[in-house]
Amino acid sequence: MRAHDGSTSAGTVIEPPDGSAARAAIEAYRGATIVVLGFGSQGAANALNLRDSGMAVLIGARPGRGDHAARARGFEVLDPVEAAARGDLIVFAIPDERHAEVWADIHAVVRQDAVLGFLHGFSVCAGTLRPAPAQPLVLVAPKGPGAALRARYCEGGGLPALWCVRQDDPQERGRRAARAWAAGIGAMRAALIPSTFEAETETDLFGEQAVLVGGVLALIRAAFDVLVDAGTDPAVAYIECAQELRQVADLLYARGPSGMMEAVSSTAAYGGFAAADRIDTPALRSTFRALLEEIRDGRFTGRFLADGAAGAPAPQAARAALRASSLESASALVRSWFPGTDRGPGAAADIDPP
Ligand SMILES: NC(=O)c1ccc[n+]([C@@H]2O[C@H](COP(=O)([O-])OP(=O)(O)OC[C@H]3O[C@@H](n4cnc5c(N)ncnc54)[C@H](OP(=O)(O)O)[C@@H]3O)[C@@H](O)[C@H]2O)c1
Repeated sequence: MRAHDGSTSAGTVIEPPDGSAARAAIEAYRGATIVVLGFGSQGAANALNLRDSGMAVLIGARPGRGDHAARARGFEVLDPVEAAARGDLIVFAIPDERHAEVWADIHAVVRQDAVLGFLHGFSVCAGTLRPAPAQPLVLVAPKGPGAALRARYCEGGGLPALWCVRQDDPQERGRRAARAWAAGIGAMRAALIPSTFEAETETDLFGEQAVLVGGVLALIRAAFDVLVDAGTDPAVAYIECAQELRQVADLLYARGPSGMMEAVSSTAAYGGFAAADRIDTPALRSTFRALLEEIRDGRFTGRFLADGAAGAPAPQAARAALRASSLESASALVRSWFPGTDRGPGAAADIDPP
């Protein structure tokens, strides 16, 4: 059941086919200036989508790559402080651990009735960014990287996003800003899902630690080592345990878990179901619960911020060890055999959306 603004009974907004909910949300914010601070992965995609949706966008960037890229795409770019002074909605499209220092620079010029926008709830939940109690805060967290946000929008679609408003004012400036922002980046064409800063932050951190980044790395590394120790050629081990992940991920994305298990061969399905039960041990679940607990009670945040304050030695050391590993050399060789890959170890992907 959908209300006139596209809301379903569960509170998730899904755009009616005529696009009326997004148009109404954008129209209700006509005349407002959206300042996007930073022009990296999310900043570029958000700014380009918002501009193409007819909204007034101004970029706040320090001199450097983002500043250059924004100017090349025809945006007006100002220093973050000058830009923030002009924002009705100020979107923090800068790394989470930098929010506090940028807020320290800009807070004196930010209007009392301006809305602060976040793409991830980390800095608000960690308390590193402390806005005035009357300042509306909104979260619009797209569920995907900037390049995908831009690509889906250009195809006429969008990415789902979690959203919420905190400490809104009586004029509901926060709610209007969040809905216009979400509509402008195309999120309503997919699904705009109600959340809270805490829930978005917790689930995002947990998902990347347990599965998307930490879990996948651990599985690949352990399986690769076992095969190579047993005498398998490292390149073959890498193809089997890492490179082919893409096909399975695509199946999962398109068809869901049971569709993926139906699409694989009968040997893969039989062995896969049996192995999943053996890998999914009480010890694994206990590790997952510990990760979640440490996110919830702030231990992860404390460690992350302390590491960042010391110049991020932990991820730097881990990256250096990974680059020097046999897994990485096997990867470089294997990627040189496959189309559409970055050649060479450590080559950075082009995250610039079109
Ligand atoms: N990437 C994702 O998949 C994703 C998905 C959902 C949400 N998010 C959230 O989106 C936000 C931005 O992340 P991102 O991945 O888009 O970051 P990013 O690609 O690393 O881009 C960061 C931008 O911030 C600028 N910047 C960094 N430090 C700054 C400072 N002290 N002052 C001014 N500008 C500064 C950088 O400028 P230079 O160009 O000069 O380096 C760059 O333009 C984060 O809150 C993140 O959690 C990201």
